[in-house]
Amino acid sequence: MADDKKGNGNGMAAPAVNGRAYPIVDHEYDVVVVGAGGAGLRATFGMAAKGLRTACVSKLFPTRSHTVAAQGGVSAALGNMGEDDWRWHMYDTVKGSDWLGDQDAIEYMCREASPAIIELEHYGMPFSRTADGKIYQRPFGGMTTNYGEGTAQRTCAAADRTGHAMLHTLYQQAIKHDAEFFIEYFGIDLLMNPDDGSCQGVMAWNLDDGTIHRFKAQTVVLATGGYGRAYFSCTGAHTQTGDGNGMVARAGLPLQDMEFIQFHPTGVYGAGVLITEGARGEGGYLTNSEGERFMERYAPSAKDLASRDVVSRAMTLEIREGRGVGPESDHIHLHLEHLDPKILHERLPGISESARIFAGVDVTKEPIPVLPTVHYNMGGVPANMHGEVVTRKNGNIETVPGLMSIGENASVSVHGANRLGSNSLLDLVVFGRSAANQAEKIITPGASHKPIADDAADFALDRLDAARHSKGDQPVAALRLEMQKTMQQYCAVFRTDETLGEGVEEMNKVWAKKDGTGVNDRSMIWNSDLAEALELDNLLYQAQVSINSANNRKESRGAHAHEDYPDRDDENWMKHTLMWCGADGKTKSDYRPVVLQPLSNEVQSFPPKKRVY
Ligand code: FUM
Repeated sequence: MADDKKGNGNGMAAPAVNGRAYPIVDHEYDVVVVGAGGAGLRATFGMAAKGLRTACVSKLFPTRSHTVAAQGGVSAALGNMGEDDWRWHMYDTVKGSDWLGDQDAIEYMCREASPAIIELEHYGMPFSRTADGKIYQRPFGGMTTNYGEGTAQRTCAAADRTGHAMLHTLYQQAIKHDAEFFIEYFGIDLLMNPDDGSCQGVMAWNLDDGTIHRFKAQTVVLATGGYGRAYFSCTGAHTQTGDGNGMVARAGLPLQDMEFIQFHPTGVYGAGVLITEGARGEGGYLTNSEGERFMERYAPSAKDLASRDVVSRAMTLEIREGRGVGPESDHIHLHLEHLDPKILHERLPGISESARIFAGVDVTKEPIPVLPTVHYNMGGVPANMHGEVVTRKNGNIETVPGLMSIGENASVSVHGANRLGSNSLLDLVVFGRSAANQAEKIITPGASHKPIADDAADFALDRLDAARHSKGDQPVAALRLEMQKTMQQYCAVFRTDETLGEGVEEMNKVWAKKDGTGVNDRSMIWNSDLAEALELDNLLYQAQVSINSANNRKESRGAHAHEDYPDRDDENWMKHTLMWCGADGKTKSDYRPVVLQPLSNEVQSFPPKKRVY
């Protein structure tokens, strides 16, 4: 652990450089990683292993990061349970993305998948095993063999606690290497150089003792995860507030493809808690109020293991057409009671417990009440496959010097308009590692930092101070709830011009109330009211960009199901959205082309075609 009060020119308290009493503790590193989930940890120890002086700043203790909650597994064409090939995985991912994913980056991820899993195995990750000792793999939605012909068993699992096993394995590696951790430090804002647009570091608030820290770095790596908490019902932790996206938007950089929000088909009705897709991978199935296995009508071949967007839409339509279950006909049943209790015990122990706690259901005897629930953000900070953040500058797409983004925080874009289940844990380790490889190439260990302006910290501190002393009548939690309900209602599984238009207006009203919030606790030590005010600000930027991006896109693609434009329109809309959001909540958009060419000649480009399962 880092002792931020001593050593090597780091951790020295400087006098206040702002108009207020916030003495700043200064630190200098080659790299500062913000976030300690799967991507952040993989990048942190990868960079430390390459001799870069690396710090990891995290608002949570690393093993409490949301990666811990990932359940069903991590994809890789290992072929342990039947024939498989990384090219089939690539095809499935391109198709799953509804042809919005960049094929060069997808090739990179699918090719690197098997080495990444073997690396985790060598680190000691406790995967479930087959009878002959190989890593156990289960089928997941949209994962096929022979370019769509058969069902692939590609998802490597540690029972249904794969994220837990992965996160702990990565944390062990991180503490083995020489990285320094700043735990329970809240990242406030980036330190941007106004002259050349580069990033020079990040400001952070130590929640535990109230001190303010300026981390100067040759490169900052944002790995702060998704923003599920912009919605009322999501599978994500309370802390999943996409802080990195907020920092990037405030730095005047765009966010990409934020209209694509994944609803996981099986969140527990009422609680939103995840029931892994692995449950259907092990043989579970969905029924409506008539006891019908309705997925057979929507996806005759893949059925319950169609891609998530397809299953979520089918469930929503069943409910809309009056075939939902329960007293209010407003949810669907997931059946596992026909499975051997031994399988449930061995492979699905976590969700068996969740079903008991959150739905009062014994999965060996009765179905679980489920509903599509916000689960994942395909959009995020535009980044290339080396983790470098890109932006539109002088008409070109250029990298932002000194800034990287990885994991759910980033839009690389390997998931395009819809992510396949188990490609997320893969994305974390593959791109965490690739960012470390790139950092080795572009950063000279110990190189001196460019001088940083005396007032560089003011932007972050002004924002912190304004929130801390805000005196409005409206509690932060009340405005957060209003935003969450707005997003839930207007930016849902199905969208129309009318709902999105109203949603934009409603979100503008929510944004306008930002100045009317009040924080009651003015202290700096474990002030969760203040932390939540900063998180809400981050969420508001992301909600605003999401609903405006959705309102702009006049087609249906992946998770963006627009009822006024029910078809995919490749001619006009096969492009990534870039959207900026100003301090006044006003948005500006631009687009960039999708990459259809793969990285190598070992695989051909997969041209767009109708997407059926
Ligand atoms: O269903 C699940 O286990 C979730 C996996 C994922 O989102 O990749």
